[in-house]
Amino acid sequence: MYFYGTTGVNNIGHLEIGGIDTLELAKNFGTPLYVYDTALIRERARSFKKAFEEQQVRAQVAYASKAFSTIAMVQLAEEEGLSLDVVSGGELYTAMAAGFPTERIHFHGNNKSKEELEMALEHKIGCIVIDNFYEIELLKTICQEKTTKVNVLLRVTPGIEAHTHDYILTGQEDSKFGFDLQNGQVEAALTEVLSSEYFNVLGIHCHIGSQIFETTGFLLAAQKIVEKLAEWKETLSFEAKVLNLGGGFGIRYTKEDEPIPPAQYVSEIIKEVKQLVEQFSLTMPEIWIEPGRSLVGDAGITLYKIGSAKDVPEVRKYLAVDGGMSDNIRPALYQAKYEAVLANKPLAVSTQTVSIAGKCCESGDMLIWDLPLPEIEEDDLLAVFCTGAYGYSMANNYNRIPRPAVVFVENGIATLVVKRETYEDLIQLDLPLK
Ligand SMILES: Cc1ncc(COP(=O)(O)O)c(C=O)c1O
Repeated sequence: MYFYGTTGVNNIGHLEIGGIDTLELAKNFGTPLYVYDTALIRERARSFKKAFEEQQVRAQVAYASKAFSTIAMVQLAEEEGLSLDVVSGGELYTAMAAGFPTERIHFHGNNKSKEELEMALEHKIGCIVIDNFYEIELLKTICQEKTTKVNVLLRVTPGIEAHTHDYILTGQEDSKFGFDLQNGQVEAALTEVLSSEYFNVLGIHCHIGSQIFETTGFLLAAQKIVEKLAEWKETLSFEAKVLNLGGGFGIRYTKEDEPIPPAQYVSEIIKEVKQLVEQFSLTMPEIWIEPGRSLVGDAGITLYKIGSAKDVPEVRKYLAVDGGMSDNIRPALYQAKYEAVLANKPLAVSTQTVSIAGKCCESGDMLIWDLPLPEIEEDDLLAVFCTGAYGYSMANNYNRIPRPAVVFVENGIATLVVKRETYEDLIQLDLPLK
């Protein structure tokens, strides 16, 4: 039996996380319930940071808050000395409500509105990652109106798509994000921002994909960008102070996944960049990264109460839980795979294969296909592992299902950090016809 993150079995045979019995958590906070072991989040944050410190490379490790954005999580990121990546006014607002130092906030997004950019400038956030020509003009106008100057990075698409073990080199990237590195777009953008009095151009950003288990894609991206930096030093007299290589470091969702430790990604990236800047006689830039799931993914589990069952003879057995695509849309959205156990008897021998369905009125609302489990009894509780990233942050109210509560556990102490939504919350913004 493999237990994910920091889960294990306690002396009465129940699944525990962060030193707390999951049955106790379900009893005290209800189900479905997201539970995070914050000690693991801290450990991951520290290992990313330490890897840079050990090699004395100036760096920022920015938590990609899209993975899981709440006030408590942002405060945890602050406690660990991380920077923060936000992609919307809402994520920025959350960061500010959490008291996050605005100079360590990086603002992403392919369609930031005027209001969002104004908000970012008013709060003097660390930098804006410019995504397209429209944004250059918009940001210029806002800076002009506010007679201010802003730090910017340019997001480029380096023509590398990385996903798990595959990476694809594409001549021109078909992506909604960023300036194409190959077809002259990025040079045009760079010329534009460098010539403007409103921008302090810090450097270049790219994000090549997600759930990546090898360093090859990152190294290739670094190579392509640094080659361009060498060219731009000559042609545009531009030297980047920052090279941001994005997030996407893989985690173990199932036994098939074999991630490498955070320190390994970082040390190989550093080695490559150092070698490249030496080769092209450039100044070593600061290296920024933006991990999301690798900080919070396997620190989170979701607890569900098991309800109805349906047997389709000779085909499959469905078991339904009290949540589903409303709290974890990833299986429906990208066929994401998860593993799970019965929290009240995680070591019981599996005697059957079942498929875990959600309670939403949608055939596609399936959480796990073909999961080996023991016989099911009244009050059994299902614990789905590694739901910490893009679970709560993608949660929705389909079928007007209230979103679950979120609890942080650490060293035997459980803290409620997001309340369970109520039916009153659900209709809070509705207005009557008359
Ligand atoms: C620009 C950018 N940075 C960082 C991330 C975080 O990726 P991950 O959670 O896979 O680390 C994403 C994810 O979509 C992203 O788009």
